[in-house]
Amino acid sequence: MDVIIASDEQEAGRIAAAHIAHAIRGIDEPVLGVATGSSPLSTYEDLARRVKEGSLDFSKARAFALDEYVGIPADNPLSYADTIRTTVTEPLGFDPANVRTPDGMANDIAAGAKEYDEAIQGAGGIDVQILGIGNNGHIGFNEPGSSLVSRTRQICLTRETREANARYFSDPADVPTHAVSQGLGTIMEARKVVLVALGEQKAAAIAAACEGPLGAHCPATLLQMHPNATIIVDEAAAGELRRADYFRDVQRLLPESQRIPD
Ligand code: F6R
Repeated sequence: MDVIIASDEQEAGRIAAAHIAHAIRGIDEPVLGVATGSSPLSTYEDLARRVKEGSLDFSKARAFALDEYVGIPADNPLSYADTIRTTVTEPLGFDPANVRTPDGMANDIAAGAKEYDEAIQGAGGIDVQILGIGNNGHIGFNEPGSSLVSRTRQICLTRETREANARYFSDPADVPTHAVSQGLGTIMEARKVVLVALGEQKAAAIAAACEGPLGAHCPATLLQMHPNATIIVDEAAAGELRRADYFRDVQRLLPESQRIPD
């Protein structure tokens, strides 16, 4: 697990975008796993800048969203399908036909989730999975206690997740109680993981994820077992890392040949 401490949100986004661009270089039809929420927004903005400048092209790429609320139709602006359309599909120039979100309106949610997981495998798996992290250590909507080998499925959201996401809803009572999320086993199959965390409200979860014992109490700790995971945090989210100085040293002393080009 590489931990990179950025000075602020903009730098975190630039570094994350550089890692994503590097990971998909030379892949004709890359497959991205995409997160919603505030954490990846500066990353998407930097990717969009690269598309505009001509150094990146997602016109043949495919994307699979991490998760979707149960009971919110895809054309509702609060749905993750719509959020992905406005933050990823349109600004990055994906073909909408190549971007999928789990179906939170399916009559048979379990069957839809299974088909979604199989579709990711059918696409050849995910080249780069972009993640945020919940204040409680969730990745995707894999709440604490999730099976470490779980697949895409319906999940009951914790109260802290519903409270954190209430900011998007005019009435907190409208926050859905359930979501469909890629599982931890699904996420772990991505060939590269880039997680972005911003702000001091993420500091405890980041310390647990990067330095704590591995376990379902903090699903993001599973990334310690991933062979190619990069965790990019701003100064505030790095605030509780005991080994922050070491992580800074690792980056500062990185041999030129291992540096990710801007
Ligand atoms: C979003 C997702 C969640 C968020 C996490 C952080 O698709 O799966 O795990 O990444 O809740 O949310 P923000 O970035 O809004 O703090």
